[in-house]
Amino acid sequence: GSNQLAQRPPMGWNSWNHFRNKVDDAVIRAQAEAMVSSGMRDAGYVYINIDDTWEASRDANGNIQTNSKFPDMKALADFVHSKGLKLGIYSSPGSQTCAKFEGSLGHEEQDAKTYAAWGIDYLKYDLCGLKEQMKAAASPEEAHKIMIDAYKKMDVALRNTGRPIVYSLCQYGQDAVWRWGTEVGGNLWRTTGDISDKYAKMAEIGFSQAGLARYAGPGHWNDPDMLEVGNGGMTTDEYRTHMSLWAILAAPLLAGNDLSSMTPETLALLTNKDVIAIDQDAAGKQGDRVSTEGPIEVWSRHLADGSQAVGIFNRHHTALTTTVDLRTLGFTGPVKARDLWKGELKNLNSSFQTTVPAHGVVFLKVSQ
Ligand code: DGJ
Repeated sequence: GSNQLAQRPPMGWNSWNHFRNKVDDAVIRAQAEAMVSSGMRDAGYVYINIDDTWEASRDANGNIQTNSKFPDMKALADFVHSKGLKLGIYSSPGSQTCAKFEGSLGHEEQDAKTYAAWGIDYLKYDLCGLKEQMKAAASPEEAHKIMIDAYKKMDVALRNTGRPIVYSLCQYGQDAVWRWGTEVGGNLWRTTGDISDKYAKMAEIGFSQAGLARYAGPGHWNDPDMLEVGNGGMTTDEYRTHMSLWAILAAPLLAGNDLSSMTPETLALLTNKDVIAIDQDAAGKQGDRVSTEGPIEVWSRHLADGSQAVGIFNRHHTALTTTVDLRTLGFTGPVKARDLWKGELKNLNSSFQTTVPAHGVVFLKVSQ
């Protein structure tokens, strides 16, 4: 993005994964309060993002209105800001959103101004409704141009407001968005279809991100979708895989659970300082897969201090013992390895054996 925002992958919360259409003013206030009281804000989570289903039709002047779930968006933004947090919102470049609410087509400037007047800090712009126009296009090239133009239009509109608003493109990785996401002003762009709270889907998305590292960097990130941590459909080891992989991918960390009722275990998964530090590393270099051996995958990410985050993932449904050879990552002789989930510092040889739990990870920060 050309707006200087999102110099680190955005961190926050989004309503969709847990609340779907059951999001309202009270839910948002409760999440904002829980973000602070749980310590998540102090761990780096800042954005409270309202997803689809807040919209009503337009007034006589074409201004977008909120439906009865959100009686006063400006007051809500003031409340969220008073907690030291930022507020995000959602729309579509089409005439309708995915959930068939009012979209921004033909009202881009006007909507951007409305968001700015409300005090919005982040926009997720979800392709959905524009798919009809794209289908009607004479060629794939024309369809692509319709999409690009629509995303550019909102980028210009957002920047014209003068308010810093993070711009999140949501079009499920279509047309290799990582190649043109920056060009249309995106600070992040979804690289895949929707995540769900199941290991198979989370793993399919996360492990499919190999090769995309070169497209990410400060201000412009690949987005493999929001977190499912704490929603109950995965084991703790599976959620550790989710967090570790997203950290290696320099992915946005947008919690998707109910922060007002989470367990201490969920909070610990979301706020592991070492894991967050990998995600938010100052060099802003996304990691990549370095080897695959059956169900064992090793991924690494180069960090600003010269060390590497190394994830040894086991995609099998039973624990496996494997030999890891850090020499392929450029290490020689003995290394220092901090186990980021166990919080232990170990001295290891550059070739060592380790046991990885079912669907789990051994996540290390390795330095020579
Ligand atoms: C599709 C997106 O991929 C989801 O993240 C969510 O925003 C829904 N649309 C909302 O309708």
